[in-house]
Amino acid sequence: MNFQSLFRKKTVQNILHQVELNESGQGYEKMTRNLGVKDLAAFGIAAIVGAGIFSTIGKASFDGGPAVIFLFMFTALACGFAAFAYAEFASMVPVSGSAYTYSYVAFGEIVAWIIGWSLIMEYAIGNITVAISWSDYFTSLLETGGLHIPQWIQMDYLTASSGYQEAVSLMQSGRAFENIDISMQQAYHAWMNSPTIGSFHLVADLPALMIIILITWLVYRGMKESRNASNLMVVIKLGIILLIIAVGAFYVETSNWTPFAPNGVSGVLKGVSAVFFAYIGFDAISTTAEECKNPQRDLPRGMMWAIIICTVLYIVIALILTGMVNYSEFKNVGDPLAFVFDKLNLKWLSGIIAVSAVIAMASVLLVFQMGQPRIWMSMSRDGLLPKKFSKIHPKYKTPSFATIVVGFVVAVPALFMNFTMVTDLCSIGTLFAFVCVCGGVLVLQNKTDVPRGKFKTPYVNGKYVMPFLMIFAIVLAFTSYKENTMAFLTNEKQVIAPSDLIQNLNNQQIEAIRMELGNTHSEAFESAGRDLDRYWNEMNSETYYQQLQHLELTESQIYEEGWALFIHKIPTWIFIIVTFLLTYSTIKYNLSLIPLLGLICCLYMMSELGVSNWIGFGIWLVVGLIVYFLYGYKHSKLRPTHTNLKEA
Ligand code: ALA
Repeated sequence: MNFQSLFRKKTVQNILHQVELNESGQGYEKMTRNLGVKDLAAFGIAAIVGAGIFSTIGKASFDGGPAVIFLFMFTALACGFAAFAYAEFASMVPVSGSAYTYSYVAFGEIVAWIIGWSLIMEYAIGNITVAISWSDYFTSLLETGGLHIPQWIQMDYLTASSGYQEAVSLMQSGRAFENIDISMQQAYHAWMNSPTIGSFHLVADLPALMIIILITWLVYRGMKESRNASNLMVVIKLGIILLIIAVGAFYVETSNWTPFAPNGVSGVLKGVSAVFFAYIGFDAISTTAEECKNPQRDLPRGMMWAIIICTVLYIVIALILTGMVNYSEFKNVGDPLAFVFDKLNLKWLSGIIAVSAVIAMASVLLVFQMGQPRIWMSMSRDGLLPKKFSKIHPKYKTPSFATIVVGFVVAVPALFMNFTMVTDLCSIGTLFAFVCVCGGVLVLQNKTDVPRGKFKTPYVNGKYVMPFLMIFAIVLAFTSYKENTMAFLTNEKQVIAPSDLIQNLNNQQIEAIRMELGNTHSEAFESAGRDLDRYWNEMNSETYYQQLQHLELTESQIYEEGWALFIHKIPTWIFIIVTFLLTYSTIKYNLSLIPLLGLICCLYMMSELGVSNWIGFGIWLVVGLIVYFLYGYKHSKLRPTHTNLKEA
């Protein structure tokens, strides 16, 4: 194996030639071209508006206050920049591989593989969370309608088992069952009432399984069917969102918008992952390139429309939500849209919202469940995955085998697992793909031998902007934020984050702290479900620091310094170094501003996601590389064979 062969590239000319062969029936099995620009925009909206806006926005508003709208604007801008890069590639290489194929052209095989692998994070793993979330909304909807489903068939195994154990330990310490947190009571019921096989308790999230089977079937059945279902769901959810806005506007009290940014910039930035998650999805429509009537023209338009429409909706919704009730009331609220109307006694509307959440999440599932097999199909055509993955169903014209495998990959974990970290992992995988696609446009920018598509990102020479932005940032860092900057640069010791503190304590210490907090701050502690991490995360840093000083903790437990502290700064350092290098390259190579800003904004959001997510993502990529070297590298269509060696 030589190092260079890892970066073997596909050329645009070859890809376009292959598309021609496919069209004339001499290449890969053909798919049917049914999609127009409206369908694509609808697919985009279907994928974007889902669990993000219906649930995670509550926490983002609580942390950031009304100023969370700036985060929506910033994220929209970052996604908009990235969308330009996607659009440019989609019109250059109109095939199903999306970011995977684009990176194959720009950076070479190993980067393409890594991107393909990280897109599994976005689509397949993202869908596991959406399916679990869908199940929660769906079962509570049935409950409201008077239909009770036993807990053990609507809860995942891990939640049930850990909730049961916590409930038992609380009861042993003298607490009455009725006084335990409701989620623990449910877990207890699920565990106790479940059938057992030996000592194994059969607890599984069946509604999550059911929706994945249904959606997989739809995606398997054909693009036309999926399109019609998606269009219908989008019309319903947009209609309901407009209704929410129209009714909500009457209940806005402008006094709720003050203070506008109660927790400052850091409070707003806490919502990065949640808000970015709410925007994920527009990129998925590029996987349908081979099913579009005119992909080079319609894909860029479809993506842009989807982002513009969703951004406007999101900003208006965020303003209305934070105007209707005070931001501080969103503490622990998992269904913020239904919550505000419930609070105003508009129960009929909160019921409608619950229905639309179920529909919205189903549409996200649909588009992601459609995107993943198409990427695998492209990887398989390139030899990086077994041939079966590119098999097209003779009648339905969909990648049938890959679709079924995706169904399994999503459904099985959704049945049993509880992925609290998955939103972050999904965001980091997607951001990484965005960074690479923007980088790809920059790499190809000055190459004259690459045929261009119909869509080109407007060119503004970055060197007239980037250096000034850089100088501005440096001046700001050393004037207004001087203290923070110096603390960062000198790695000054800092109060430890709650999750790290808890990790460093032994069980006895944790129990002692729980007892202490239970006695001294019982109400707030109970309302956080006696969950230390949650309890501390929800208070401001000053109060948290004061509490730590009253607990029996040593200096070294309260503060973090040295490597333990530095490790959290690595993502930010990566961001700073890459930004410096990019500024230098911009001056030297006249890089185009829009993809450049897209890359920097997305990398910035990645750096805000925390080192544990980087580590999780890193492990995922290492697994991917092992798979590549065991299979993909040897089977790649671009590997040197006797024939092409002779030709060379
Ligand atoms: N943007 C999608 C959602 O919020 C992933 O559910």
